[in-house]
Amino acid sequence: MIKSLLVLALVSFSVILQAQSQNSATDALTADFHRTRRDELRRIMPAKSVAVFFANPIRNRAADVSYRYHPDPNFFYLTGLREPNAVLLVFKDMQTINNETFNELIFVRPHQALKELYDGDRLGKEGARDQLKFKVAYEGTAFKTYPIDFSAYDKVLFYDFQDDVRNSPEEADLYELIEQFKQKVGYQKKELNVAIEPKKNNIDLVGLDLMMKKLRGIKTKEEIALLKKAVDISTVGQLEVMKSIRPGMSEMQIQGLHEFIHKSYSAADQGYGSIVGAGHNGCVLHYVDNEKSSIEDGELILMDVGAEYRGYTADITRTIPVNGKFSKEQKTIYDLVYRAQEAARKACKDGVAFKTLEQTANTVINEGLVQLGVYKSTDKNDMVDPATGRNRYNPHGCCHHIGLDVHDKGEYDLLREGMVITIEPGIYIRNNSPAEKMWWNIPVRIEDDFLVQKDGCELLSTMAPRKSEDIERVMLEPSALDDLKLPDVGIKK
Ligand code: GLY
Ligand code: MN
Ligand code: MN
Repeated sequence: MIKSLLVLALVSFSVILQAQSQNSATDALTADFHRTRRDELRRIMPAKSVAVFFANPIRNRAADVSYRYHPDPNFFYLTGLREPNAVLLVFKDMQTINNETFNELIFVRPHQALKELYDGDRLGKEGARDQLKFKVAYEGTAFKTYPIDFSAYDKVLFYDFQDDVRNSPEEADLYELIEQFKQKVGYQKKELNVAIEPKKNNIDLVGLDLMMKKLRGIKTKEEIALLKKAVDISTVGQLEVMKSIRPGMSEMQIQGLHEFIHKSYSAADQGYGSIVGAGHNGCVLHYVDNEKSSIEDGELILMDVGAEYRGYTADITRTIPVNGKFSKEQKTIYDLVYRAQEAARKACKDGVAFKTLEQTANTVINEGLVQLGVYKSTDKNDMVDPATGRNRYNPHGCCHHIGLDVHDKGEYDLLREGMVITIEPGIYIRNNSPAEKMWWNIPVRIEDDFLVQKDGCELLSTMAPRKSEDIERVMLEPSALDDLKLPDVGIKK
């Protein structure tokens, strides 16, 4: 059944993405891409500095089972490495150590036959040289005694440690690499929030993040190409769910349909926990339980789901009526959110302040909700919920960068050409809120992804309709998923 579903799905969704999924291995970022990113970092690093990055930890799920490994986005951006237990050093200037001359250095996991039997091949130091194209690469086990004198640099730049890494039985695991590094630089956190005691006062825990924001906030053409694919995949998911959803389905089933479609296009993961909330659940901003077993006729369902493709994630929300037709109140609120998004979209271009987008969207929403009587007035006392300190019905920010992180690194003062951002206004009217009962249980978020340009911004997420009438029209269309019938195995939803 799954096989026939896969065939059906692939046939019907292939129009735009077929070539991409067939060439899945050929569109990964190249070693050259990552090398130029290191060069760009080096260019903006201060004089006589070294920047040190550590791979992400492996996260334990249960017993000896780990979560699927996700690389640290900075580490991946600068190396292309998708393995744990590694350290990267980027030097401002050429170094000569151990008779080798270089300006970057990587330590990676050594080969271990038994580990590789269970977890798959490791790149090893040869792979770091041949595939990642590092001139000098070592095994992590060499880091402890590697003769680098960190006191010789004017600045040693790194991210402060979160003290959340387990010490595993493996030699030169991340825990050990971090401890060895702390020794080498004389870094010691005396107590939480208390100053550090370096051997030499050259430790900088702030500057690296500012530099990475500057770099990662402006996407290269290679990154934009991958983001467009992530967005296309995510919007095909939204579109297909619009056609196939019926009252009585569960939130989890809807989540599964989105994620099945993502994986049909080789999107390995979601960039964040999929949010699929019907009725009141849609008002929970980061609702990821998705456990309502039967979505009711007449409810709205809010679906915030983003495919992660080759590390880059989309962030798309559609809110649709489960039965295919918005009620009068649902449509009124939906269309207001749409107008807010359109107003922000029109304001979006190079040179405009980021916060203008939020102000523009909020003005439309606040004035609209006052006109409808949902807010009594735009007076703070009427709008702000004292329990949260946020606007009662539109409590969250409207825009953020996307990329290797869903809330990607980037600067938030002015919009710049090459940024890829969301515009995501929302209105959430919970039951038992002070608004009249007819407005209760209406959650609406419309979230789209945009490429900022010189004179405007390009809407990337065009494949899933945004207007209420277009959603209702698409929901009448048949879906490739309509014929899915699974056997009864005695499980009640
Ligand atoms: N999906 C999380 C967000 O919209 O920011
Ligand atoms: Mn978002
Ligand atoms: Mn989102």
